[in-house]
Amino acid sequence: MSPTEQTVFRLTAYNGVENLHPFREPVPEPSAGEVLVKVRSVSLNYRDVAIATSTYPIPVGGKVIPCCDVAGEIVAVGPTTELFKSPDLIVGDAVVAPVSPSFLYGHDKGPDALDLTWGAGKQDGVLREYIAIPAHSLIKLPPCKAPRDFVQWSATPCTVTTVWNAFYGNARLKPGDTVLVLGTGGVSATAIILAKAAGATTIVTSSSDKKLDFAQNQLGADYRINYKTTPDWAAEVQRITNGKGADHVIEVGGQGTLHQSLAAAGPGGVISLIGFLADPQETPPNVANLALMKALVVRGVLGGSKQQLEEGIRFMSARGLELPVDKVFAFKREEIIAALEYLKSGSHVGKPYVGNGWRLRRKPLLGCAKGHGAGGLHNRRDHSQPGF
Ligand SMILES: NC(=O)c1ccc[n+]([C@@H]2O[C@H](COP(=O)([O-])OP(=O)(O)OC[C@H]3O[C@@H](n4cnc5c(N)ncnc54)[C@H](OP(=O)(O)O)[C@@H]3O)[C@@H](O)[C@H]2O)c1
Repeated sequence: MSPTEQTVFRLTAYNGVENLHPFREPVPEPSAGEVLVKVRSVSLNYRDVAIATSTYPIPVGGKVIPCCDVAGEIVAVGPTTELFKSPDLIVGDAVVAPVSPSFLYGHDKGPDALDLTWGAGKQDGVLREYIAIPAHSLIKLPPCKAPRDFVQWSATPCTVTTVWNAFYGNARLKPGDTVLVLGTGGVSATAIILAKAAGATTIVTSSSDKKLDFAQNQLGADYRINYKTTPDWAAEVQRITNGKGADHVIEVGGQGTLHQSLAAAGPGGVISLIGFLADPQETPPNVANLALMKALVVRGVLGGSKQQLEEGIRFMSARGLELPVDKVFAFKREEIIAALEYLKSGSHVGKPYVGNGWRLRRKPLLGCAKGHGAGGLHNRRDHSQPGF
């Protein structure tokens, strides 16, 4: 039987991650069409830091429960009615929740796509012990036999959905394409892994040679550029591709890197505008002219749907792909704040996680996919902490 009270974490102000505080609140009763999920693992994304520090593109107020990536186990099913039946989901099932319970199909939803994600504008997030979720929005997982399985699955919602949307939501990624990935964080690591497995050639940029080693040796990136020591990294992309340029660009820098992404893209290329991490340039690029002259698709990507997460998970399962788990932190205030600070520091590759319900020690649990050539098989294996 589930307890009646749980610990939830809420932000009480929006000027720093230290404003995260625990509260004792009732465990929700799942209503018709809902199931009650015991949270087993939460993965953290840059947006969780951005929300806590008021740098997120949409304002978040009140005392929100943050975070949007959760994997867990069903512990109760709401009353069944003629209208609401979830014959596929039963107590004991392992599930992962898409970033939004109301964005189920398609690839573009506009600003609502952000507003309606867990822990952003309009609804509390997943940093708690129990959460009631509409059954139809959940994705059932293969049985999770170890804590690590939940950790792995909790990595998928935000980054896999976003990257899948970037690669397949509009002009589709094809085997043989060249993908330029900016950085080595959660979105970027996922993009390298999915692009490699889809048969693309990957070029990764980073500020750190150690991270570039990791991206090449453990994630399978083909080419690397240190954007600190090679400030004109767009020219280097053109050199690597013999002047053809990149077919897809995973743009996480935003205004500060867009001018170079436009220069690095090849004719007909797709630039997926995903993040806003780099300091803006004083003189913004003339996007209209540059895109016109190369016939580029410059496309904003705002998360994505349950359908896209399902497709991404199906692909990852078929290929045995795993996302890099950087560090796992315990479900305690000091540990979660340390995890958010760690994310803020940018020392990670992939992303940190918060485990709940398991006695997780604070130690690295690295397991990631290593590419073996275009479209080749990817092994599951453990690696030691990169220690950046
Ligand atoms: N639109 C969406 O739906 C969506 C979804 C997810 C995330 N996002 C956004 O995408 C961005 C990345 O999110 P995340 O969770 O992956 O963040 P993260 O894990 O914190 O990773 C940040 C990465 O950005 C790289 N970076 C920072 N400044 C850079 C620059 N000037 N040039 C190139 N790379 C730079 C860093 O590279 P190195 O440390 O290797 O140098 C690091 O790998 C954030 O802005 C986030 O809000 C948007």
